[in-house]
Amino acid sequence: MAKVLVIYHSRTGNTAKMAEAVAAGAKSAGAEVSIKRIGNVSLDELKNADGIIIGSPTYYGQMAAEIKLLFDTSSDIRGQLENKVGAAFTSSASIEGGSQTTLISIIQAMLIHAMIIVGDPMEAGGHYGAIAVGEPTERSLKACRLLGLRVANLAKKLEG
Ligand SMILES: Cc1cc2nc3c(=O)[nH]c(=O)nc-3n(C[C@H](O)[C@H](O)[C@H](O)COP(=O)(O)O)c2cc1C
Repeated sequence: MAKVLVIYHSRTGNTAKMAEAVAAGAKSAGAEVSIKRIGNVSLDELKNADGIIIGSPTYYGQMAAEIKLLFDTSSDIRGQLENKVGAAFTSSASIEGGSQTTLISIIQAMLIHAMIIVGDPMEAGGHYGAIAVGEPTERSLKACRLLGLRVANLAKKLEG
């Protein structure tokens, strides 16, 4: 069974709600899903996952420092996340507040790990991952569920 790890940072709860929806989407595809708040994630957990989905609030148009610290620490396992499926989600305060640059900052780090990134052809939300502005709406939560589903389905395919 494909293992999907959902990691998030959240101070005021918006990204946390998105993380629950992402996890629910991955579960609906039959994946074994763990959901972890940042600070609680070991490098072994990253290595053991087939899919890793990371959510951060948009801070200055980028991922939060807490998420960046995980990536910085993960240079110790460089080469060991290759071909895992990756995706990102974010919550920002305003629509033009840099949510897409935040998703790209997460995806960029995943690409440097040679992970395989899941996008969206505008079926349910953003091209680069799921986005919410403030409190997640039902539309945003749907995009989160679909992102989790896509990652789990691809991870299952790659399992062979
Ligand atoms: C340090 C800091 C920087 C922020 N920078 C931005 C920003 O650049 N653009 C934006 O739209 N919102 C920004 N925000 C607002 C948060 O992204 C927004 O409130 C988000 O929904 C918080 O997510 P959370 O409830 O999961 O903590 C910032 C908030 C903080 C605390």
